[in-house]
Amino acid sequence: MAELIVALDFNKQSHALSLARQLQKEVKWVKVGLELYTRYGPQVVTELKTLGFKIFLDLKFLDIPNTVQGAVCSATALGIDMLTVHLLGGGAMIRAALKGREQGSETSHNFTTSQLPLILGVTILTSLGKEDLPWPETREISRVVLDLAQKGQAWGVDGVVCSGQELALLKTQLKPDFYYLTPGIRLEQKNDDQKRTISPGEAVKLGANFLVVGRPITRARDPRSAARLFQQQIHQH
Ligand code: C5P
Repeated sequence: MAELIVALDFNKQSHALSLARQLQKEVKWVKVGLELYTRYGPQVVTELKTLGFKIFLDLKFLDIPNTVQGAVCSATALGIDMLTVHLLGGGAMIRAALKGREQGSETSHNFTTSQLPLILGVTILTSLGKEDLPWPETREISRVVLDLAQKGQAWGVDGVVCSGQELALLKTQLKPDFYYLTPGIRLEQKNDDQKRTISPGEAVKLGANFLVVGRPITRARDPRSAARLFQQQIHQH
């Protein structure tokens, strides 16, 4: 069954935690991203874990292999459940990330293999369209995403982040036990910064395992009802 992840993109920890408390009955997973983590660091992760949430730490690591290895080691030691690295970092960086995960799990006594965080590879951000790529005239965005995802699979990531629009293509080309996390989920078309959007029901039908939803829930007048609506649509499919 696909999981809904609510992106806590806030610049105040108190807002993030108060929303998380409101959503405790509706969702199991929350995303801690750049905005919240840069300000509050591991403390906010610990607070959210204490509330019982699974944590998707979406910091989209992209750096030289040694640096990413250290970052993934630190993230793993925090006890998070899933994290992201950019596939554009290349094979050596991804293999270093996998090594960092091993090292991070060795620093804590309670890890079993099943508790190791999933490492997902970011392909092309859902806020980008074809015209934003440096090679718009030659490459279809879905082709670039597929190339990156195939490489990521060969390098050893557990799954990829991709838009709903590429799910069908990727599912036919990649091995079956690969995870797909899809942002850019909208109940209706909105004119915001997401370009490659899809509805929750459609994303599930196409095989997404995780749906990341931010503003349609966090900025809703009634976030609990909004989360419930997303869950209903996810579970109908
Ligand atoms: O508010 P919205 O629903 O657009 O939030 C989507 C979330 O998914 C944000 O936290 C964003 O950082 C994240 N995300 C994304 N595109 C990716 C990976 C993650 O939009 N490729």
